[in-house]
Amino acid sequence: MNVYKIAVLPGDGIGPEVMKEALKVLKALSNIDSTFAYEITAFHWNTDHYVKHGLMMPENGLKQLEPFDSILFGAVGDSRVSEHIPIWELIMPIRKKFQQYINFRPIKLLRGLETPLKQEKDIDFVIIRENAEGEYSTAGGKMYQGESRELAVQNTIMTREGISRVATYAFQYAREYQLHKVTNATKSNAIIHTMSLWDEVVEEIANDFDEISYEKYYVDAIAALFVERPEDLQLVLASNLFGDILSDLGSAIAGGLGVAPSANINPNGDFPSMFEPVHGSAPDIAGQGVANPIAQIWSLALMLQHFGRSDLHDHVLSSIEDVLVEKKLLTPDIGGSATTEQVGDTIVNKLQKRMGLA
Ligand code: NAI
Ligand code: MG
Repeated sequence: MNVYKIAVLPGDGIGPEVMKEALKVLKALSNIDSTFAYEITAFHWNTDHYVKHGLMMPENGLKQLEPFDSILFGAVGDSRVSEHIPIWELIMPIRKKFQQYINFRPIKLLRGLETPLKQEKDIDFVIIRENAEGEYSTAGGKMYQGESRELAVQNTIMTREGISRVATYAFQYAREYQLHKVTNATKSNAIIHTMSLWDEVVEEIANDFDEISYEKYYVDAIAALFVERPEDLQLVLASNLFGDILSDLGSAIAGGLGVAPSANINPNGDFPSMFEPVHGSAPDIAGQGVANPIAQIWSLALMLQHFGRSDLHDHVLSSIEDVLVEKKLLTPDIGGSATTEQVGDTIVNKLQKRMGLA
């Protein structure tokens, strides 16, 4: 039997608190299902590590992570170091070195949760965001600093290869999960060079997938669509910046940060992929035991799906929904007064019931 090797990086603040609950769920799954086995190795690469050693991870940190099947990540960030350090010295090196060029975010209003939109809607789509190039590049510079003629240039890098691989992933995903439509978020009317290449390559790929319809929307119009007709969307394909903004809007209409999961995927499997909640280390509530563990647990479910265990993914997600529908034990961010641990335990409990081991 395959034993999945998982690197666990709990991080800072509420990261370790929610990670603990996700690991309970993982353990419960392997206890219930004899065909699922795993092995975890924890890496405490966080702000404490930085304060002690001057580095977010050891110099050979990426080498240490490389042999794993996947990385389960909590959240990093702590007021003792400036915000860009954990991002640029831990998260970004992992995403870049391991060529995690897909950022995947389900925007799904789980059963039992309410949308802040006025009308109840059936919200269930995914955002596939380009995660390695585009607007988030360091190419550019500043001149004449401090003078009235000061200027700054920041270049967007779009490559045929980069666009083609994310678009191919999106259409293949649509095919695999029987989605009927891919919506391209663009702005080629105003950003005439990079975004027109984006559209051209996306359309070439779209032509190879006859059974999936394709539509193109300007990103500002899509933002409105998220609010007015989210039920019309199935898969939104977006560049790095557009995808980043749209995903936060998406998580806001579907229950908020406490429940929003994400995946950074290396589709070829050359390197481990990384699964993490959208939220940060939430210093304002850290140490109180009230953080919502659902985003972390759902991220774990995405990892299981990536392993090809959609069955386990579905069980975990349904168990989360059972807890949400019951409304007895919810954390304060979604209107309850339960603790992180109580919610984690209840999800495990539902899982055991669903999978027949109560
Ligand atoms: P944040 O996501 O940590 O918190 C924003 C707000 O949402 C806070 O009021 C927080 O209490 C609440 N919140 C977040 N997750 C929650 C959960 N699971 N349950 C209940 N409430 C939750 O973002 P913020 O405050 O901007 O950043 C805090 C730190 O986290 C910073 O150091 C930042 O750099 C870092 N950060 C790290 C990320 C990562 O590790 N990928 C992502 C975003 C921020
Ligand atoms: Mg963001």
